[in-house]
Amino acid sequence: MSEIHRASTTAPVNIAVIKYWGKRDPKLNLPTNSSLSVTLSQADLRTHTTASCSPSYPTEDSLLLNGSPQDVSGARTQACFRELRALRKQLEDGNDTLPKLSTFPLKIVSENNFPTAAGLASSAAGFAALVRAIANLYELPSSPTDLSRIARQGSGSACRSLFGGYVGWEQGSAADGSDSTAFQVAPAEHWPNMRAIVLVVSAAKKGVSSTTGMQTTVATSSLFAARANETVPRRMQEMQKAIQDKDFETFAKVTMMDSNSFHATCLDTYPPIFYLNDVSKAAIKIVESINAAAGKTIAAYTFDAGPNAVVYYLEENEKQVAGLFKSILGEKEGWAGQRGQGVTANDEARDKV
Ligand code: ADP
Ligand code: DP6
Ligand code: CO
Repeated sequence: MSEIHRASTTAPVNIAVIKYWGKRDPKLNLPTNSSLSVTLSQADLRTHTTASCSPSYPTEDSLLLNGSPQDVSGARTQACFRELRALRKQLEDGNDTLPKLSTFPLKIVSENNFPTAAGLASSAAGFAALVRAIANLYELPSSPTDLSRIARQGSGSACRSLFGGYVGWEQGSAADGSDSTAFQVAPAEHWPNMRAIVLVVSAAKKGVSSTTGMQTTVATSSLFAARANETVPRRMQEMQKAIQDKDFETFAKVTMMDSNSFHATCLDTYPPIFYLNDVSKAAIKIVESINAAAGKTIAAYTFDAGPNAVVYYLEENEKQVAGLFKSILGEKEGWAGQRGQGVTANDEARDKV
């Protein structure tokens, strides 16, 4: 009988208000622009991952996602395994009493409690959980910043799910990616009345993955360069200030304009990529009518690479925003979490098993 070592963790989803779209180095997963997101409550959307290792396991590393075996031979998953093993090996080399976990095959078992590959940031929660579960298994002393550097190589957006609250990802300039990490702009308590509703328009797997989509955009869109080099850097400043000042109107306008800009570059990609559908467009119209009725901007839509809407609003406007969506759409399927009650921004980007 040989020993089995095991550790579990959960990780939250984050939904960007300034989108990452474009890689300057696909191998290291380095982005063409910085980005900024809000980490959502794990009470609603989360990945749960258990990492284990044993000398008795079959020689290949393995990953079971929602019960289905996944291919782990891809360079991105391999990069995460390699980096985490190297950190474990450093500990083992300095301490003869530590078991040589770095030499054992890994078995990863992961569950997403929300649709995978549907534009709800499963790769973000998924790789953040994978990296932290293995770091826990290996008892690494790594900081969230160090783990964000590793998770970024699994999926770019994953680096932001290592932090709670309002989170930036600095694009960095180093060729080796050492300065392309996530950082906390503000903890959730700074602006605790922020809420999000998630409208699941479709749980189907997207037709064009984020990885493929953004690479085609970089290669073909003529709008893309202006977005990456001018629009986003300016909006990153505006957004950080809006968060510091708790200025919802600016937060909301920049969020909606950045989502529109990102989807415009998708349409400008050749062949074009359509992530939004007619229901997504109806959600945009509803947000516009909510804001028009309020006489100010109290709701902000944003869409990742998929048709599903996330609408940010402040708790005091729950009735006018979440309540209205609920009354139009009814109690039927469509709400992630507590049926339109809203998902809280949170600081639980830490272990919660
Ligand atoms: P999404 O919009 O959901 O982030 P992506 O196209 O970016 O969609 O990524 C989806 C891919 O992320 C999945 O096909 C899978 O390879 C990976 N992924 C999703 N969830 C997990 C998980 N829990 N553990 C490991 N990898 C995951
Ligand atoms: C539209 O992080 O999924 O959600 O790095 O190729 O795995 P890869 O892409 P991914 O892209 C996310 C794109 C986005 C915007 C965002 O989350 O910032
Ligand atoms: Co993704």
